[in-house]
Amino acid sequence: MSLTPTPADKFTFGLWTVGWQAKDAFGDATRPPLDAVRAVHELAARGAYGITFHDDDLFPFGSSDSERQGHIDRFKKALAETGMKVPMATTNLFTHPIFKDGAFTANERDIRRFAISKVMRNIDLAVELGAETYVAWGGREGAESDAAKDGYVALERFREAFNILGQYVTDKGYKIKFALEPKPNEPRGDIFLPTVGHALAFIGSLDRPELFGVNPEVGHEQMAGLNFVHGIAQALFHKKLFHIDLNGQHGVKYDQDLVFGHGDLKSAFFLVDLLERYNYQGPRHFDYKPVRTEDDHGVWESASANMRTYLGLKQRAAEFRADPRVQAAMKKSRIDELEKATLNPGESWKDLVSVNVDVEGLGARGYHYEALDQLAIEHLIGFGK
Ligand code: GCO
Ligand code: MN
Ligand code: MN
Repeated sequence: MSLTPTPADKFTFGLWTVGWQAKDAFGDATRPPLDAVRAVHELAARGAYGITFHDDDLFPFGSSDSERQGHIDRFKKALAETGMKVPMATTNLFTHPIFKDGAFTANERDIRRFAISKVMRNIDLAVELGAETYVAWGGREGAESDAAKDGYVALERFREAFNILGQYVTDKGYKIKFALEPKPNEPRGDIFLPTVGHALAFIGSLDRPELFGVNPEVGHEQMAGLNFVHGIAQALFHKKLFHIDLNGQHGVKYDQDLVFGHGDLKSAFFLVDLLERYNYQGPRHFDYKPVRTEDDHGVWESASANMRTYLGLKQRAAEFRADPRVQAAMKKSRIDELEKATLNPGESWKDLVSVNVDVEGLGARGYHYEALDQLAIEHLIGFGK
């Protein structure tokens, strides 16, 4: 295995990631705009599989029909020249001032209607370009004050919007599915559907839950202090991991969108281990921002860094699992025991009414997790052999 990515690795990037001009709340852009056609070529040259976009990344908000088509045609040509795919697309429902109070959950009804129509139009384009997944990130679906928004009613409107969209793709005969992307805050003080768990529960309330899954982002769960690996395990458990946004984050602070692995590397190691062991088939999508200090050269280095880190961790995780010392340590830690059902075949609660086990002995036994964890660390830092 090498660290050189190929399209078979299914690495994808948002147009807005490498294209981020690094304008932040305190400073102007430090990089010039990036042409979408160039982004396609540069990413293809580095071994990426595909590219994703918000409608407004491809053609400016408010473009005339012919301007819009011109941008789409150039983009399609670049895709054809490089073989790059568009497995996912999404909508910008957060930049224009009309969305300052949200889109599907804006208090103003006209804005909600406009937002849904914007999404439907871009779904048509997504389908035309072959996308299988439509991401919905509720960028400004939230509030700064609980006086400003009825959190219960907002969920009713959120549900209504997704039911309309579910009906839309069904009526159109589209095969596309939706992936809801949770985030706890930023740009709103608090955002609705803040975590994977909230989103999974909400999906159960929709008319067509089978059309909806999640698009968890590493940094977003970590901003809430949550264990991303556990979140992904639960999404897989519910068969709802439709897409994933990989990046890096250092704990509970602003959304850093660092290169994958440039935040909590140990969590990234166990994430790749989980995705590969459970045979996740979707794109490995990087939703990151090259740090503001980078010039154009640094942007492309950072793009490659995401893919190299993933491949490196994939190799290290496989070596970790194959190491006989790890297998022995796992046995000692009773990892395999968890796979056994708690009841024997044919048993029921009646067999658990009176349970005699070695209470003192079981209470006293050690689990050897420290040794196992250290083996993981040693594999991760290159001393696994
Ligand atoms: C973020 C979000 C966004 C969304 C993207 C899709 O970092 O706050 O991840 O990047 O993923 O805009 O709509
Ligand atoms: Mn983010
Ligand atoms: Mn994201």
